Amino acid sequence: MTNSFPTKRMRDLPLLSPPAIPETGTGPDPSIARMNLNESAMKPSPKALAAAVEALQFSNRYPDHGCTNLAGKIANLNKSAPEDIIFGNGSSELLMTLAMASLDEGDEAIFPDPTFPTGLKASRIAGAALVKVPVASDGANDVPAMLAAVNEKTKLFYICTPNNPTGSLTSAEALMRAATEVPDTCLLMIDEAYYEFGAHEGAPDVLSILKARKGPWAVTRSFSKAYCLAGMRVGYAIVSGAEVREPLNTLRGNFNINRAAMAAAEASIDDQDHMHEVLSETIRERKRLSDLLTDKGFTVLPSFANFIVARPPAAAAPVQKQLAKSGVLTQYMPWPDEQGSLRITVGSAEETDRLVSLL
Ligand SMILES: Cc1ncc(COP(=O)(O)O)c(C=O)c1O
Repeated sequence: MTNSFPTKRMRDLPLLSPPAIPETGTGPDPSIARMNLNESAMKPSPKALAAAVEALQFSNRYPDHGCTNLAGKIANLNKSAPEDIIFGNGSSELLMTLAMASLDEGDEAIFPDPTFPTGLKASRIAGAALVKVPVASDGANDVPAMLAAVNEKTKLFYICTPNNPTGSLTSAEALMRAATEVPDTCLLMIDEAYYEFGAHEGAPDVLSILKARKGPWAVTRSFSKAYCLAGMRVGYAIVSGAEVREPLNTLRGNFNINRAAMAAAEASIDDQDHMHEVLSETIRERKRLSDLLTDKGFTVLPSFANFIVARPPAAAAPVQKQLAKSGVLTQYMPWPDEQGSLRITVGSAEETDRLVSLL
């Protein structure tokens, strides 16, 4: 019997789920500093919360599967066609469906290493082989090296900018090379979960660069970061046209954006002032956290997102464990060498002080 449950592909798949963090009642445990998930420490726009509450009274009705109003607002902001905006239960869901739509058994998918793992997991589920190309020394995706790994089996080419976990941006020149040199038979997927942070600090305009591309592309973005709606689970992809839109719509789960989340996302788009305040506040606190860690002997890499990469003067893994024992959660990563680093989400001022006082 070769066919057994689950499939061999599933049996070989490592469990890649986010860490389970205990909660109290309906909210996070206030005694735990969650500096490991790149959430926002700031609350969503009050207008978003009010809109979500208002929408809840219609919970007996399925939400608008087309997310018509939300698509219109995102389209306006980005000067894109509303039908080319596809929604996911967080952008994670879109990373999964985009990989499923582009890969067959035996295909290859190219990823920077390290990067956000969901696309890799989805590619393995689709039966593709992963080609991992180390990031450059500044943590940016090494697009020339990734392009050198392309062959006729390559069907997915993933760029993450700003890259999680390194915080680095991909240059306009590298993006243009990817747009024009990734074969037309391959999906170019650009993960911009931290888009608003990058854009605020002068990141290249990915959508305008992609105008030079002939082949299929998708840009994924999230309401979880700058819009402070991680708990609502709303992400979207802006795609090149029908060749990507149609398979994504086929794969998309019914009514996958719930009513409250949709209302909150719409109101958040309307409250750009709140989003800009989140960016300024987070960037200010990121600098304070970086300076305090530098004073403690850490090396902190430049970041264009709501987290930093900090290298302790000694091995990072025990530092992460000790902090966790005291209720301060950070993410260990085995990069750029065996000493490793900590990826630390920018939290509130109190969380920064708590973390620093433990070091
Ligand atoms: C690079 C990147 N992409 C995608 C995601 C998924 O975010 P969400 O599913 O909340 O939109 C994250 C979350 O941290 C991320 O860092």
